[in-house]
Amino acid sequence: MLQFDAETARILEDSYQGSDVQRRRLANIAALAPSAGERIVDIGAGNGLLSLDISRAVGPEGGVTAVDPSPDMREAATQRCAGRDNIRIVPGDAAALPLDDASVDGAVALQVFEYLDDIPAALAEAYRVLRPGGRLVIGDFHWDSQVWHADAPDRTARILRMWDRHMVWRTLPAHLPGMLRAAGFEVSAVVPELFHDTQLRTDGIARMMMLLISAYARQTGAPEASEVDGWLEEQHRLAAEGRFFFALTHYVTSARKV
Ligand SMILES: C[S@@+](CC[C@H](N)C(=O)[O-])C[C@H]1O[C@@H](n2cnc3c(N)ncnc32)[C@H](O)[C@@H]1O
Repeated sequence: MLQFDAETARILEDSYQGSDVQRRRLANIAALAPSAGERIVDIGAGNGLLSLDISRAVGPEGGVTAVDPSPDMREAATQRCAGRDNIRIVPGDAAALPLDDASVDGAVALQVFEYLDDIPAALAEAYRVLRPGGRLVIGDFHWDSQVWHADAPDRTARILRMWDRHMVWRTLPAHLPGMLRAAGFEVSAVVPELFHDTQLRTDGIARMMMLLISAYARQTGAPEASEVDGWLEEQHRLAAEGRFFFALTHYVTSARKV
């Protein structure tokens, strides 16, 4: 899987403040609907932006526990959330949350579950820490929805197949409802959030994907790494010629502990 090291954290930082990733965050927060005084766990909290947004909604009487196994990501979250007394940033894994049974009102995992080897274990753990009636929101891409227009489509297909190797689950949103029900949850909604652009915006999700895909190719030394520069060049050229076309759909899946 892609290493979320200091360099990756820096790349994500720019894009995460952009309008696309903000929209993705807001869609997950809207589904979670945190309210004043609630206790929320942010599973795989990453650089802390989501935890920070949720901490405003739960206010000083509530609290957010931001859990992430990566020291680099926790460091980024610690810097971002400095001075916020109602956010606790802790090491941990989705399959072993450092929380008591029935101790939270809501749990959210935004683009985390597609990296997990053992989703039933993570769902059982979310079920354990939620109070009865507590909400779980899981946001992930369905990678079959990814479209990059290209003059060299075979090269693009090879690069995307290489990118597939960075995650465990390519089509997780299609599996989640069944997995959630098997774990004892009631599924409340599955809502698509489409990202589509005909421009290559600096702060857009397409630009973020180009950065992450090329970083992953170089990190792993994949044979396809030699093709990545050509692919990036092609995407910039298509954008300059007004022929850029990108689409990707994120799904927000909401469930309740019954
Ligand atoms: C793409 S980032 C998403 C970060 C954040 N949720 C957001 O959207 O702003 C994925 C995060 O999942 C974390 N992660 C990876 N494996 C994990 C696991 N087994 N349990 C919990 N988090 C994990 C990574 O360290 C990383 O911070």
